[in-house]
Amino acid sequence: MVRKRVGILISGRGSNMASLMDAARADNCAYEIACVISNRPDAAGLETARKSGITAVALDHKTLGSREALESAMHEALIASQAELVACAGFMRIMTGDFIAKWDGRMINIHPSLLPLFKGVNTHERALQAGVRVHGCSVHFVSAELDAGAIIAQGVVKVMPGDDADTLAARVLAVEHRIYPAVLNALAGDRIRLEDGRTVFSDADAATLSVIADN
Ligand code: GAR
Repeated sequence: MVRKRVGILISGRGSNMASLMDAARADNCAYEIACVISNRPDAAGLETARKSGITAVALDHKTLGSREALESAMHEALIASQAELVACAGFMRIMTGDFIAKWDGRMINIHPSLLPLFKGVNTHERALQAGVRVHGCSVHFVSAELDAGAIIAQGVVKVMPGDDADTLAARVLAVEHRIYPAVLNALAGDRIRLEDGRTVFSDADAATLSVIADN
């Protein structure tokens, strides 16, 4: 099996990145990590990647100056590492339509809410404030509109009495770590694709990935 090469974009801690790296160690995984790129040179995830021998590219959006300059450096690093797919894993910069178009149908993101609810930041605080009884995460194709691309899979957790943003975030994160590698593996194995702005699953087995729950 030829594994698809994946570039991972991060901005910080990199726990989702680590879960993608862990899954790539399995013999039957359909992808391998081509590189990890951060827009913040101090992102902890860069060190984790380096320790595993993965090409880690530190960019600095502040010194690069513009969104276009950051994206052209990212694109160059992705091409240099022969990435075929891109997985955003806690990447916190808004991307231009031009960059997104280059990776149309080949770039996915994980977002910590059940989209289309709570796009943007502070999702756990806002979920608690809204009083929703279920919350979770969504994996979606990246499209020009922020957090609005075709949803591939969602991980669902109950909101418990007494939850605060930290306890809720921790339960959502545990589900993120399960769902993201599973989706990336299916995408790399050509079992999921983007067609006319919707997610298409090639078989019933792939479709079973689309919802997971934490109990
Ligand atoms: C994760 O919860 C991810 O879903 C979220 O940032 C966190 C990154 O944690 N992503 C976004 O908010 C994207 N808009 P990690 O660095 O430990 O993976």
